[in-house]
Amino acid sequence: EQIEKGGYEHFMLKEIYEQPHAIRDTYRGRLLANEGIIRMSGVENHKEKFLNANRIIIVACGTSWHAGLVAEYIFEDIARIPVEVEYASEFRYRNPVITEKDVVIAISQSGETADTLAAIKLAKANGAFVFGVCNVVGSSIARETHAGAYTHAGPEIGVASTKAFTTQITVLTLIALKLAKEKGTISNSDFHYHLEQLELIPDKVKQALKSDEHIKKVAETYKDATNCLYLGRGYNFPVALEGALKLKEISYIHAEGYPAAEMKHGPIALIDEQMPVFVIATKKGHYEKVVSNIQEIKSRKGKIIAIVTEGDVDVKKLADHIIEVPETLESLSPLLTTIPLQLLSYHIAVMLGKNVDQPRNLAKSVTVE
Ligand code: AGP
Repeated sequence: EQIEKGGYEHFMLKEIYEQPHAIRDTYRGRLLANEGIIRMSGVENHKEKFLNANRIIIVACGTSWHAGLVAEYIFEDIARIPVEVEYASEFRYRNPVITEKDVVIAISQSGETADTLAAIKLAKANGAFVFGVCNVVGSSIARETHAGAYTHAGPEIGVASTKAFTTQITVLTLIALKLAKEKGTISNSDFHYHLEQLELIPDKVKQALKSDEHIKKVAETYKDATNCLYLGRGYNFPVALEGALKLKEISYIHAEGYPAAEMKHGPIALIDEQMPVFVIATKKGHYEKVVSNIQEIKSRKGKIIAIVTEGDVDVKKLADHIIEVPETLESLSPLLTTIPLQLLSYHIAVMLGKNVDQPRNLAKSVTVE
């Protein structure tokens, strides 16, 4: 096992550090930036299904569901296709309206999640075209879908999903960009710019990982918190949900993820000097609005830990701690802002002496409902 961990103390840490490589493996052979094309046979062979779809329904659970939420932003924003993101467990029992004009995308690291599998069987039985985004090759969901795209993240052993999340977002981004190009909802120059920026992501993830020592110090400060709030807007709202889930799973600290603007509709009542609030406040993504949300937290004496773009000045003046990530397009920012939140959860859990790779009550793949 020590050999498999490749010198890292835990699989989770190894998998966090594998992300630059894993993301590159995900787009290798698909993203051809110089030629200005995205090659994905699973999409190309069923192009008409995607282009004529009334909507895309994404079904998934847990972290994969969060990747689906990020995808909702990019599909709607760039490809102008309406998207609904469903918990597979709710979708399957809701008697949902599914038609032959629907494309259902099932996202699953393991490809074995019982609820997701049942959701796609239901979708197929109602005539929808079902596309899988799985990591495990030959898994049940991969076999049950009409077509799909593997994430190629390599084996993920840690129960807390890390590289599966960022590689799922990478695949879904490629699909959205490809469809946007086909539909003409993105200009040629924007398309090329997105491809170039996506190619730079692995190096930027590497850069983000360099904050690890600083993040460890932040973790030390907040490891004894009993409640935490995670806030983000737009593309980074799902990242807030994912950050909270990571902390809950491995440190057993209660955490809530919220869209930053929803704070004033309830969670703001929780904020006092004991409450750490992790805010994703990168440039481009409604930055000014997030800054004003941060001011609201500060005036209630909440502790602010902000994930910001390198060189940020405004949030720095307000936050108790900042963690920088490199600048990128808003649509690609989840691939970077996720990294410090993964590391934070990891360090807090290790400091609390928790079983990071196999947290209590959790299974890597949930094959029962
Ligand atoms: C992630 O950290 C979780 N352990 C869990 O939420 C997981 O994402 C969920 O069970 C879905 O698994 P899947 O991607 O294998 O379908």
